[in-house]
Amino acid sequence: MCAAESAGQGTGTYQERRKVLMATKRVCVIPGDDAAPEVVIPTVQLLERMHLGIEFVWLTTGEEAIRQCGEGFPPAAKQAVDESACTLFGSARDPRTTGLAYLRWGKKTYANYRPVKWMPGMRSPLQRPEGIDFVIVRENLEGLYPGREGDLARLEPLQLTDPMTLQVLDTSKKGKFAVRVITEENTKNIARAGCTLAMKRKATGGKGKVTVVAKYNVLVQSDGLFCQVVEDAVKRYPELSFDQLLGDNFCQQMVINPHQFDVVIMPNESGDAFSDGAAGLVGGLGLAPSACLGDDYAYFEPVHGTAPDLAGKNCINPTAMLLSAKWMLDYLGLEEAAQRLERAVYQVYADGKQLTRDQGGTASTTEFCEAVQATL
Ligand code: IPM
Ligand code: MN
Repeated sequence: MCAAESAGQGTGTYQERRKVLMATKRVCVIPGDDAAPEVVIPTVQLLERMHLGIEFVWLTTGEEAIRQCGEGFPPAAKQAVDESACTLFGSARDPRTTGLAYLRWGKKTYANYRPVKWMPGMRSPLQRPEGIDFVIVRENLEGLYPGREGDLARLEPLQLTDPMTLQVLDTSKKGKFAVRVITEENTKNIARAGCTLAMKRKATGGKGKVTVVAKYNVLVQSDGLFCQVVEDAVKRYPELSFDQLLGDNFCQQMVINPHQFDVVIMPNESGDAFSDGAAGLVGGLGLAPSACLGDDYAYFEPVHGTAPDLAGKNCINPTAMLLSAKWMLDYLGLEEAAQRLERAVYQVYADGKQLTRDQGGTASTTEFCEAVQATL
């Protein structure tokens, strides 16, 4: 399971091979670490019971793969990903050794959709959560991630001028730097993804509104470019309206009036942080799914981490994983099944009898999944 086999690369152009992969519906599954497999396994079981013609390929990555192959993401795992339509991903303790780095940067999945939607029965801390329904589109490849850092002294040859003081940056102190990159090309991609989503949502009653959130008053050049590219993209869709907010203001607005938002586009690191915050509005990270899409590949993972404190207890809320799987079914062209799955999950919340502890219930992960299964 460690080495890639040379056969099986397929023939024909890349696009032709991609078409075949989408049609065969082969999906890689990476269960992840700690409590993550406890939501991945029942989710796949549920999908299998729906008889959707999906072929699941389970991959061993991370610590177990290091034990078996000496590396966390061995060539065979990479090949399996390359020969699949998409990946269902649990959550990784170390993004470098579990395949996350390849799924994101290797497969260029630049758009990370993080929906924030309240449904009856979800344990929101807000008084009026009814109608909260927006999607954060987080740029997934650039900004401060993937983390290009180093010793401050390395910046000395650049003689950078600090725009606040007009002084040259003092690189003589012991310290570190981090590089933040925003490219026009990638921002165009993310802007297009956000606009397409807003149009799709508008077709089913959405607001048709794109909000770009960034710190353009301080990061005048990088976030300035990000906002400008998004604004230019939205102009190409006369049906959509455009708004621009500073990141700090967004945080306040999302708490006092989250209903105003529809599609919210953000750079990587703020999208990462603010989407965890936004999940809190509707009931917490146990409910927050995500989908990472590029032009040629996609993977689906909950917003939450590996929840080591919950591992082995059969109590983690599988909603985030199940709703991520719902987005995967949409991606695979199984829209009707996607809706069935989503409706079943929401029904369990509306019934309120089989909720997990984070939602004020006493049900185990298994009991919640059984309730979804019974409602499907
Ligand atoms: C997430 C996580 C990851 C990220 C880490 C583990 C790299 O926080 O998916 O939200 O920041 O993207
Ligand atoms: Mn995160």
